[in-house]
Amino acid sequence: MKVLVVGSGGREHALVWKLAQSKLRPELYCAPGNAGTAQHARNLAIEATDLNGLCAWAEREKPDLVVVGPEDPLVAGLADRLRERGILVFGPGAKGARLEGSKAFTKEILERHRIPCAQDRTFDRAGMAKSYLENCTQWPQVIKADGLAAGKGVFICHDAKSACAAIDSLMEKKSLGAAGTKVVVEEFLAGEEASVLAITDGETILILEPVQDHKQVGDGDTGPNTGGMGVFSPVPELTRRLQRQIEQRVLVPTIHALSREEIEFRGVLFVGLMMTDSGPKVLEYNVRFGDPECQALMRRLKSDLLPILLAAAKGELGKIEEPQWDERVCIGVVAAADGYPGTVRKGDAIEGVEAAEKVEETIVFHAGTARARNGDLLTSGGRVMCVTSLGANVQEARERAYRAYEAIRYTGKFCRTDIGARRAARAQEDSAAAPKRPARDPRLRAAMNERIQRQVRHERRRKEDGG
Ligand code: AMP
Ligand code: GLY
Repeated sequence: MKVLVVGSGGREHALVWKLAQSKLRPELYCAPGNAGTAQHARNLAIEATDLNGLCAWAEREKPDLVVVGPEDPLVAGLADRLRERGILVFGPGAKGARLEGSKAFTKEILERHRIPCAQDRTFDRAGMAKSYLENCTQWPQVIKADGLAAGKGVFICHDAKSACAAIDSLMEKKSLGAAGTKVVVEEFLAGEEASVLAITDGETILILEPVQDHKQVGDGDTGPNTGGMGVFSPVPELTRRLQRQIEQRVLVPTIHALSREEIEFRGVLFVGLMMTDSGPKVLEYNVRFGDPECQALMRRLKSDLLPILLAAAKGELGKIEEPQWDERVCIGVVAAADGYPGTVRKGDAIEGVEAAEKVEETIVFHAGTARARNGDLLTSGGRVMCVTSLGANVQEARERAYRAYEAIRYTGKFCRTDIGARRAARAQEDSAAAPKRPARDPRLRAAMNERIQRQVRHERRRKEDGG
């Protein structure tokens, strides 16, 4: 079986690493991949955004599945173009990918289908946005570029002056290009953040273990937002009760909304949430695995990934059993390059990866790495690697991940030193006697999926009857 993974980050290395362990023994390809994916797959010299190149390769090679990692090719319609050629794809078409590609579109969907989220206004003129902000009485306000911005398009502003500066930068100076043509101004939500990822085929959902990213570049959540600086999983604060609330108030209504909007969605629905005093509220949708969330999930997933992705791509996810997860904690620490999330230095020699992987239960996923002609490993991006370690508890996982991180050497290396630290402090308070999370009850998933399917079928019949 031939499988192509599209992308070149740590997420794609983790996917390829996990797929390489499949009982279906796939022949793996990665486009374009990185020095890490090359250990398990054949890297193709085709960029993830080269849709023509990818389609030509797929026509020639007829892969049994294409797994699209990043958002850009999904937003550009790669999945549609491959499906038109009869190829199975894990990842939504362009219509579904708008949930990530346009924050204004997402807000429309959320509001139309009454899915809880922050109140907002959308602006396409800087002057209107600024006069609205100058008259705001409640601060902070959150300013969001409408389009794709690799996690760098959100600004939390504490007064009108900084908010107007953000508007100027996005809309007048075009600091993020076309992504800032429209801007969403949103109420600030306070609470604990959580991401919930679910695999879906549009009729059934399979919820993955909870995982928490660290978006800001500096310790203690300071400095600008990044694609993600580190991760831990599971998230004990996300109790089964809260998870059920998220299922009922957010995930199930989202799948219904997609069905009502006639959006076929086969891939990952990744919901960024704020757990507010009045319940979970949606901050954003992504239409793919998170990076570095995926790395922690792949380390903890015990079941074979390939049959799950194949079933979702075929629309047969209902046939898949609840996956098995490693009970242990995973911590992932991103090793970044000087300058990230701004302009970064590249081309520095990397050493010590083997030594890092000698640390117990540790795997280093590559992201911005490349091989020089002479075989040397070099930095080639802002997030260079993600060091992941499993441990019996968060302290042990942290100790291992940071010890492994120390073993990696390149000029300009830096990381956040507090990945999972708050969790570790809390775990100590809770003491070792913290209750073990009960396993998910498969009957609950079956009941939830039945509810979704009933609704989706009802919606279909209504449409067929011309209603
Ligand atoms: P987003 O890309 O929309 O998830 O935003 C990036 C980050 O900005 C989120 O992970 C939050 O930490 C923060 N954020 C976004 N929207 C809000 C909001 N309405 N209130 C508070 N924080 C927010
Ligand atoms: N780590 C957040 C993201 O992938 O969007």
